[in-house]
Amino acid sequence: MTIESVERIGVIGAGTMGNGIAQVCALNGYEVVMRDIEDEFVENGIEAIDDSLGRFVSKGRIDESEVEATKGRITGTTDLDDLADCELVIEAAVEKMEVKQEIFADLETVTDEDVILATNTSTLSITTIASATDREERVVGLHFMNPVPIMEGVEVVVGEKTGAETIDLVHALATDLGKTTWESDDKPGFVTNRILMPWINEGIRAYDEGVASKEDIDTGMELGTNVPMGPLTLADHIGLDICLDASETLSEELGDRYKPAYLLKRKVDAGDLGKKSGAGFYEYD
Ligand code: NAI
Repeated sequence: MTIESVERIGVIGAGTMGNGIAQVCALNGYEVVMRDIEDEFVENGIEAIDDSLGRFVSKGRIDESEVEATKGRITGTTDLDDLADCELVIEAAVEKMEVKQEIFADLETVTDEDVILATNTSTLSITTIASATDREERVVGLHFMNPVPIMEGVEVVVGEKTGAETIDLVHALATDLGKTTWESDDKPGFVTNRILMPWINEGIRAYDEGVASKEDIDTGMELGTNVPMGPLTLADHIGLDICLDASETLSEELGDRYKPAYLLKRKVDAGDLGKKSGAGFYEYD
């Protein structure tokens, strides 16, 4: 399969990442079917896309006709069968191995056998996800960064059995979406989260241990190391539950240096998941 034969892309999950991926694919001319488990989640995802496209218009990056065309290319659904005609599927559901394996096993039954199944997982093994299917050479990691419409980088993650044609195709897709790719072997956390998650957890521990206020930790890292967001602000943007799941996976595989910070667990237990729930380390409208 070549990139020219991809017209319709399935997206699993309409959350932070799924709606961003759906938007970027549709903006670049692909038909998109975005699936979540409840109508309300699908509607929230469509609403987030509307808001994001509106911000693109106000910044003069696109015009109203492109907004309408983009929206017209996105279909929201809760029915997995609606992905039957897709040439490629990108999964962006919750970061749980059992959920992803079940999704991949189901996708295998509804899609044609040559359809590529990509996962946006942050930390889980591509090889283990692929083992739930009989098309392991067509399973690959396609790890978009948050927020998807803004961030340029996409990490391509190569599982034990991922085929060369699959790897080439997802690089070509990401390039067609205006992104720049790099490649990682299927090792815990890949390149980005292996290095990012200990940094975030150390920021949370520094705050919890009273090294500085949260604002000063963020300002210190922004101005002191030239990153656009400090660790606490970034954790809120990623989602504290996603950071916790990622840290737990990494500590299982790589040992204690990846253990999640105590305060991260406490915030998630309290339901403060960051920007998406209205509160994390900071408050959001
Ligand atoms: P989220 O919590 O915002 O959205 C996940 C969505 O998946 C929810 O709407 C949920 O209802 C849906 N879902 C759960 N089971 C499903 C199923 N069986 N079928 C369809 N939808 C289902 O999570 P987020 O942040 O969008 O993360 C999604 C994936 O992307 C995770 O694997 C995460 O590790 C990864 N990721 C997250 C990043 C971030 O900054 N939040 C960055 C890069 C990757």
